[in-house]
Amino acid sequence: MSRPLSLVMLSGSLRTGSYNTALLRALQELAPDTLRLTMLEWRTVPVYDGDCEDREGIPAVVTDLQAAIRASDGLVIATPEYNHSLPGGFKNLLDWLSRGPMPHGLDGVPTAILGASVGTIGTTRAQAILRQTLAALNAPTMPSPQVLVTDANNRFSADGSLTDQATRNFVGNWLVAVERWMRRFPLAER
Ligand code: FNR
Repeated sequence: MSRPLSLVMLSGSLRTGSYNTALLRALQELAPDTLRLTMLEWRTVPVYDGDCEDREGIPAVVTDLQAAIRASDGLVIATPEYNHSLPGGFKNLLDWLSRGPMPHGLDGVPTAILGASVGTIGTTRAQAILRQTLAALNAPTMPSPQVLVTDANNRFSADGSLTDQATRNFVGNWLVAVERWMRRFPLAER
């Protein structure tokens, strides 16, 4: 059997009741034995300021995240859509991750993205923008299938469990494609 892959995950939302974070937790539940999924925390990342970077260097919270992502077999991101784009705080995190000597935190790291919204769009526009940013950072993003979870308030229970069986089946199958995608970019060749 193939070596299990260790993937890390970032949620674009800091909200306790976040549907996107809940979706990532559901992935941990649904993952096959060949995938290990670990959530990364980024709440304390400061707003990017080039003067502070020149003076103090990259904050330890950022270099720790860069190291964790670089040591992983790939990165899974679930993000909300804010005003037809990425949440500002999350874009700020991506900007920080791109700093420092090459290879930066995301350079060559395979990624897979998904998102949940309470509306009918399912983060389509945010995901399109995220793909563009990840392309700029040379982080290859799985093209399809896309996971656009609409109507999230009817698919999760109050405690954040993914209760909708069709969505569970869909993301379970998506994880099979994710594993295949991540194995195309071996860590040793990055
Ligand atoms: C939103 N929301 C939202 N939804 C959407 O489909 N398109 C959008 O452009 C926006 N814009 C937007 C802006 C701001 C500032 C907020 C706070 C919210 C709604 C958003 O999708 C919803 O709050 C999600 O539940 C947020 O994701 P989490 O926190 O549940 O993961």
